[in-house]
Order: sequence, then structure tokens, then C-alpha cells
Amino acid sequence: MARPRLGERALDWLDRRYDVRYFLVDRVLLRRMPSGSPWWYRFGILAAFALLVQFASGLALLVQYVPTPEGASGSINQVQAQIPFGWFVRGAHAAGAMFLVGLAALYLLAVVLRGLHKAPREINWMVLVMAFLTVLAMAYTGRVLPWDDAALASVTAGANLVRQIPGLGSTAANWLVGGDVPDRATLRRVLAFHVALGPFIVLSLVFLYVRLVRLTGHQPVEEG
Ligand code: HEM
Repeated sequence: MARPRLGERALDWLDRRYDVRYFLVDRVLLRRMPSGSPWWYRFGILAAFALLVQFASGLALLVQYVPTPEGASGSINQVQAQIPFGWFVRGAHAAGAMFLVGLAALYLLAVVLRGLHKAPREINWMVLVMAFLTVLAMAYTGRVLPWDDAALASVTAGANLVRQIPGLGSTAANWLVGGDVPDRATLRRVLAFHVALGPFIVLSLVFLYVRLVRLTGHQPVEEG
């Protein structure tokens, strides 16, 4: 009798220890989105894929990135010019951000057009909007990381916007920037959000949203 292939044997080995077949088939593959999901929910699937690309390319960029005002743009130029396929990873991260925002926006639009933002789905909608806003904040903070003229201009514009909030505006802006003018404290905050807090929030919200949609489905509730 032919010996099972290496992949099959590895799966058997894991199966005897952790019951992986049950987990993969029963818990992952069979728990797809509810049946009857409309075609536009694929915008959401594609956005989730774009998010994965952002995580993978972002981690690769992080290996070389130097998070100081003096070193940031030099380290990125090095990625572009000297590291093999560095230009490709950076390009994928920058283009991926645009695809992600575009696909997520299309998904939100489709949800609104189907009326799925209304009761009794309003919590799904709130979670979705929070995830989208966090993705926008990730795109904004990502553009600050190269610490070039455009980055400084966008930090200053963002801080000025926050300063307009009546009462707390100045304190909030100084806290976000880490002082009166953008400097290394700003870059540290931006990096912490972009690579740690932001990804944590986005992943938690996406996970929660998927769980909620599995409960409610994608079909509008018939009004009776
Ligand atoms: C929602 C997910 C994300 C979005 C939308 C996003 C977006 C961006 C954008 C627009 C840039 C500027 C690109 C450029 O200047 O050409 C950037 C830079 C960067 N991102 Fe992200 N990013 C995401 C996730 C991540 C993650 C998870 C990491 C790391 C763990 C990461 C690490 C970096 C680094 C190190 C840079 C600076 C290098 C560069 O500018 O090329 N990103 N990001």
C-alpha cells in the first residue's frame, strides 16, 4: 500500500495530538458566512484580504524602519533602493492602503443601500463604522511615518484640526503631538498607533463584526 503523502502524515500527526481536522472542517470551513449572502459581501472579503496584505507588508517594512526624525526617511529610501524587492513591498503597502480604503468604502455603501444599517442591525453598523474609521486613522498615521515634508504638513494640519475642538482642543492636540511642535515624541506616538494599537483595534472590530453577521445574516429584515 502506498505511503500517505508528507502533508497527510503531518496532518495525522497533528490530528492525534490536537484534533486539527475537526477544528479545520467543523469550526472553520463549515462556519462560513450565512447562506444567501449577497454578491457585494465579497467587497468585505476582498477588504479583509487587503488587510492581511497590509499586515504582512507592514511587518516586513518594520524590520528596516528607523523610528526617529533623523533616520525615518533615510531608512525608507534604503528599503526602496537597496533591499531586494523593498520597492515592491513598500509599493504593495502604499497601494494596499488605497485598495483597502476603497473596498471597505464600497462595502459600507452596499450595506447602506440595502438598509442594513438600520434597526435591528444598528450594532453591526456601528462596529463596521468604527473599524472603517480606525482603518482611515491607520492610513493617516502610515503617511506620517516617512517623516518627510508631506508628513510634517499632515501632522500640523491634523493637530490644528483637533485644536479647533472647543474647550479640550489645545490639550488634546498637545497630548496627541507630544508637545507644541511635531518631534520625536510625535513619531513614537504615531508608530505605536500604526503598528500596535491600530491593528489591535481593527482586528478586534473585524472579528466582532464577522461574529455579529454570522448571527444576523446579510438579509434585510422584512417589515411586517
Ligand atoms: C490597516 C492597515 C494599514 C494601513 C491602511 C497602512 C497604511 C500605511 C500607509 C498609507 C503608509 C505610507 C506609505 C508610503 O509612505 O508610501 C504606511 C507606512 C508604514 N506602515 Fe502601514 N498600514 C497598515 C498596517 C501596518 C502594519 C500592521 C504595520 C506593521 C506591523 C505597518 C507598518 C508600516 C511602516 C513601518 C511604514 C513606514 C514605511 C513606509 O512609509 O513605507 N503598517 N502604512
